[in-house]
Amino acid sequence: MMKKIVAILCAMMLTLTAVSAFAADFTTIEAGKLTMSTSPDFPPFENTDDDGNIIGIEPDLIALICEKLGLEPNWLAMDFDSALLAPQTGKADAVVSGVTVREDRKTQFDFTTSYVSIHQAIVCKEDKDITMDNLGEQTIGVQNGTTGQIYAVDDFGEDNVVAYNTYSVAFLALTNDQVDCIVVDDLVGKAYAATIPGLKVVETTYEAEEFAFGVSKGNTALVEAINEVLEGLIADGTVEEIILKHSMN
Ligand code: ARG
Repeated sequence: MMKKIVAILCAMMLTLTAVSAFAADFTTIEAGKLTMSTSPDFPPFENTDDDGNIIGIEPDLIALICEKLGLEPNWLAMDFDSALLAPQTGKADAVVSGVTVREDRKTQFDFTTSYVSIHQAIVCKEDKDITMDNLGEQTIGVQNGTTGQIYAVDDFGEDNVVAYNTYSVAFLALTNDQVDCIVVDDLVGKAYAATIPGLKVVETTYEAEEFAFGVSKGNTALVEAINEVLEGLIADGTVEEIILKHSMN
């Protein structure tokens, strides 16, 4: 009994030091937890394993950040468009879902420091000849709420674009020839193409995009606490190492 109490006290002291090292004046929806919305259809950034755990680059980064901040990660899985809304409606402290930093999203949440840069890519069947030049003649599959959808609709109009709630369903549609191609973040396109036979990934000329976490607006202390850890992980090469570990090539 005594041993147990001592162990608990030690654990509490450890947590307290860990927290105080990062001037923990932040608050979270549920004390001691970092509640995050995510759409886990986005390997290698977030995906679900056979046991239903959310795994990937972002869960790995968040595990390290939470450990430093004395928080327990609490993942809420939902479609991407809902995940984007969750911080604003008080359901999540942050959206952690491969979110591209965009000016128009800054009214919805406060972005942390960005940690990776990607491009949109086209994924199609190997025997198709689809490039930026004839993309407008294709039926393009996208995920609802994504930058891929925004670009495709802006450039080629709604009629050429089919929006799915998840990339998993979008890729199923591609396999079944319901769409000609998918516009998706390149690392994610590569991850799908590596598991679905007969697909190829084609580069686009769309601008580079940066990923960051979207923290609920006004929770500046939380953004700063996350940034302090995240920037350390970028600087010491941990972020790069985690990305390489989860990437296909
Ligand atoms: N990076 C793109 C965006 O922010 C796509 C993100 C989709 N994320 C996901 N977990 N399905 O719009």
